[in-house]
Amino acid sequence: MITNLWYVAEWSETVLDKPVKAKVLGQNLVLFRDLEGKVKCLADVCLHRGGSLSGGWVNKKRDCVVCPYHGWEYNGKGKCEKIPSEGDDFKVPPRFKVDAYPVEEKYGMIWVFMGDLEEEKRYPIPPLPEYDNPEWRGLKTEFTWKAEASRVVENGIDIAHASFVHPVFGYPSTAEDNYIDQVEKHEWWARSTNVMFPPQLKGGFLGWRNFIRKDKQETRVHPEWHLPGMIVRIKIDLREGWHIVMFDANTPVDEHTTRTFAWQFRTFFKQKMFDKGSMKRLKTILDEDATIVEDSNPYYLPETLANEVSVKSDKFMSTFRMARRKLIEEKGWQIDMDERDKHKGKKVLTIASPVRREAEQEGQGWVFEKMPTVAPIKGEGAKNEFEKDVEQLTTDSANSKDSFVV
Ligand code: FES
Ligand SMILES: [Fe+2]
Repeated sequence: MITNLWYVAEWSETVLDKPVKAKVLGQNLVLFRDLEGKVKCLADVCLHRGGSLSGGWVNKKRDCVVCPYHGWEYNGKGKCEKIPSEGDDFKVPPRFKVDAYPVEEKYGMIWVFMGDLEEEKRYPIPPLPEYDNPEWRGLKTEFTWKAEASRVVENGIDIAHASFVHPVFGYPSTAEDNYIDQVEKHEWWARSTNVMFPPQLKGGFLGWRNFIRKDKQETRVHPEWHLPGMIVRIKIDLREGWHIVMFDANTPVDEHTTRTFAWQFRTFFKQKMFDKGSMKRLKTILDEDATIVEDSNPYYLPETLANEVSVKSDKFMSTFRMARRKLIEEKGWQIDMDERDKHKGKKVLTIASPVRREAEQEGQGWVFEKMPTVAPIKGEGAKNEFEKDVEQLTTDSANSKDSFVV
């Protein structure tokens, strides 16, 4: 689980006038909407005796969430503003603060930044130009996996499994014909263009879906991954002017659970009557994937290639692995779960937020200890490990039709 990224914590429509509990990167959060309609996000734990703030309420002025245990009030920056037992004259010490995470509302989703980086250093929330565009009909749904988010992302951008896992996308017999045509790689996202030969579509009233796609018709599919939000975005070009876009935010609720907040858009059959079938097909695909992903081993995505092999059809997936690995090995943003678990049930640890960093810079101190992260690998050692893996990939895919490394 990686800190210092934006993640989707909840749908916007869920957070109205009451505090809402969410969980991201194994940490409980409280979301509440203030008087101006802005969503605030704090660590869901009270400094006093550990009450869960999400079990409380929003105060009358609508600028604080109130702890249900003894009524302490916390503003949107995590600062305790009021301690009822001490009366109105009590000056709350500046140290009485909990972590508060930056929030953005986009695409009907509440995005929270789970880290303490300055604003200008944060990777941006991925674009979704189809949202609010009348050319596209959008539908949303969600899905929970008993799997770690990186495994879910890798599955989403993998083309080779389609021939085996999804009858609607491919035949085992065309596995060799599918190929990756282009890869465009950036620091925090990448896109590929795949050519596939899927079966004819079936179903619909009087079999109307048969007309959308002929059997084994050459189809271009463009998967993307984005580290912020652990997004998988897939655009499918069915035919001229007929497109589908899937945008899945794969939130690591904890290391065993991934909650996917999914949008699906289409440019054709935009009437409501076609929504039900569309959702049903999406659910089938997610179920097919979950059966495979939830049973894969090791449970966590391997960080090196020491115990696995890859071939050319994995090359787009490997761009995700390499980029993710840089966040772990170079930036040191991975939560140290072994260290964290030593304190389980005994001590509150919260992911560092910008308000904590600012308070520490001013020498104020902080009550809750920081969630531990795995130290980055420094110097030549890191580079050698990385290059060893790239070399291994190149050797293993030497007989493939095109080169592995992008
Ligand atoms: S535990 Fe929250 S006010 Fe006491
Ligand atoms: Fe799949």
